[in-house]
Amino acid sequence: MRTNIKAVLIGSGMIAGTHLAAMRGNGIDVAGVYSLDTASAVRFAEENGIRAYRSPEELLSDASDLAAICTPSGTHADLAVSLMRSGKSVVVEKPIALTSEDCRRILEAERETGRICAPISQLRFSETYRAVKTAVENGAFGRILTASLSMKYWRSPEYYAGTWRGTKAMDGGGALMNQGIHGIDVMCGLLGVPTRISGYVATLCHDIEVEDSAAASLVFPSGALGVIDASTAVRHARPRRLEICGTRASVTIEEDALVSAEGIDLTGGVPTANGNWKEPSAFGADLHTAQYRNITAALRGEEPLRYTARDAADTVRVILAVYESAATGKTVMPDA
Ligand SMILES: NC(=O)c1ccc[n+]([C@@H]2O[C@H](COP(=O)([O-])OP(=O)(O)OC[C@H]3O[C@@H](n4cnc5c(N)ncnc54)[C@H](O)[C@@H]3O)[C@@H](O)[C@H]2O)c1
Repeated sequence: MRTNIKAVLIGSGMIAGTHLAAMRGNGIDVAGVYSLDTASAVRFAEENGIRAYRSPEELLSDASDLAAICTPSGTHADLAVSLMRSGKSVVVEKPIALTSEDCRRILEAERETGRICAPISQLRFSETYRAVKTAVENGAFGRILTASLSMKYWRSPEYYAGTWRGTKAMDGGGALMNQGIHGIDVMCGLLGVPTRISGYVATLCHDIEVEDSAAASLVFPSGALGVIDASTAVRHARPRRLEICGTRASVTIEEDALVSAEGIDLTGGVPTANGNWKEPSAFGADLHTAQYRNITAALRGEEPLRYTARDAADTVRVILAVYESAATGKTVMPDA
């Protein structure tokens, strides 16, 4: 990999600008953008001084090292696999894919091509996550007893109307697969992938094909218990809250900030500008920039990739297990 990394963007919607800023913030040369919606790609390209590709072939003919996939979730797997097969490393927005089979195809393509697949999970690159993860690894919590994730969000009918959001094919799920995934991924990063999962899902408020509310109970590999309570139907919303309680210490994280810590001396957790829990488009690039710092170093062979396709596939596996449990009424033990 040359030191000057050249990248292209796929998709020119809400999250594309965050990737552009994060890549530029790490010295990556963003050459151009391709979107199914050519007018939107042209507008985005003009605003940002990059090229607009009119077709996938045109994008591929402009030799680049990296493609950032910022398209609806249901397109991630096919795009990631075909881009890796064409020789590019990829960054893929969350969720990495919507089914176990698609996760498997991505992992296989990564292995076969030797390219890097870097899924996005920006919360794992926050100061708070780093501080709590280190405390978990050092045993500062003692034995972890419980982890509870509460995400009482509001997404308006307009957020869903006439878009891919809330559709089975392109969103794959709702409150869990689209929004809750961030907190679930942090839980998995800190406590491991649950071994037993029971869940319920419901569409309580919105006119969408997927759940706008979900509740689940979990058993982590250590025996610690967990709960997930997630919704996008709460008109008077609350910030996402994750509480982790051990025999020696407890912490509460709200969004990406550490708001309380007892029994443990933790610093860090300066809230970033990613305060989008109320307004999805009010999105800062700080945490994506932090994650791209590692991705850039990994592409240059200077560091291992800290968040991998395997990690992202594990988190999708947990969400799919909640759906399966909700559909069957049974406890699900996601296979490794
Ligand atoms: N990490 C985060 O916090 C975060 C935040 C928002 C969105 N996302 C993820 O980013 C992805 C995109 O979300 P968004 O809100 O930017 O969506 P969006 O609808 O605003 O933009 C999607 C873009 O992709 C283009 N597109 C659609 N299908 C395509 C295809 N097959 N090939 C090329 N271009 C195609 C559209 O024309 C549009 O430009 C989703 O997977 C979403 O889950 C992540």
